[in-house]
Amino acid sequence: MKILIAGASRGIGAALCRLLLQQQHHVLALSRHTDSLKQLERQYPQQFSFLSIDLGNMQKEAPRLQKWLAEQHTQQLDRLIYNAGYLVNKSFELQSYLDIINQIHVNFTGAVLLLQLLRPYLGAGSHVVTIGSMGGFQGSQKFPGLAVYSASKAALATLSECLAQEWQEAGIAVNCLALGAVQTEMLQTAFPDYKAPLSADEMAAFIADFCLHGHRFFNGKILPVSVSTP
Ligand SMILES: NC(=O)c1ccc[n+]([C@@H]2O[C@H](COP(=O)([O-])OP(=O)(O)OC[C@H]3O[C@@H](n4cnc5c(N)ncnc54)[C@H](OP(=O)(O)O)[C@@H]3O)[C@@H](O)[C@H]2O)c1
Repeated sequence: MKILIAGASRGIGAALCRLLLQQQHHVLALSRHTDSLKQLERQYPQQFSFLSIDLGNMQKEAPRLQKWLAEQHTQQLDRLIYNAGYLVNKSFELQSYLDIINQIHVNFTGAVLLLQLLRPYLGAGSHVVTIGSMGGFQGSQKFPGLAVYSASKAALATLSECLAQEWQEAGIAVNCLALGAVQTEMLQTAFPDYKAPLSADEMAAFIADFCLHGHRFFNGKILPVSVSTP
């Protein structure tokens, strides 16, 4: 399958790339940092390509992405995972304007603009998975310092529900996975003294399987994927 992963350079996104490549899929990766991606390109030259792109600045980046997709001879995407995420752990009153718009742009606006741009590449049977957070899951326990991050993830979750409806006739499924704690750099930022029960590789294995097969059982759903609080 041809699978695009947005937010792929480290943590869960990097683990997803490795796993899907091992499973022989063709992976297109988007991220700003490229060291780990260059390594994967050397390892899987026939199956992997990447573009260094700021998903928080999609309005400016869109033409470059279009050009790259054409260069890759991309005509269709079977799966799309919007995994990019940005978190500033700071009390609400101290969040600067930049903190706020950066989180909203990476966690929400980037997904909106990327999905608009990629819609022509998605056909019947394709599956879009957005990576949300338990912080943005209605009714879940909330934590100080994460208000803007959590609200932006809630927006991403609702976007996913709405697009499932809007694209239903075209046969495109859209689901959002609201993740609980996974041991990555982001978790360290949010909960410095906490040890998560799951590794990035373990969560990536679940997401990869869900992205490949989950649309047969779920569409337009926001699914909590969590064994702990946080
Ligand atoms: N870890 C957890 O406990 C946890 C819990 C709930 C939800 N999540 C969600 O799971 C996803 C993966 O999280 P993670 O823990 O693996 O985080 P991470 O280690 O911080 O990785 C975040 C990924 O997002 C990419 N990204 C961030 N800003 C970007 C930008 N402006 N443009 C392009 N890519 C950007 C990063 O790539 P570059 O920096 O190279 O651009 C990186 O590959 C995120 O959406 C996160 O919100 C994680």
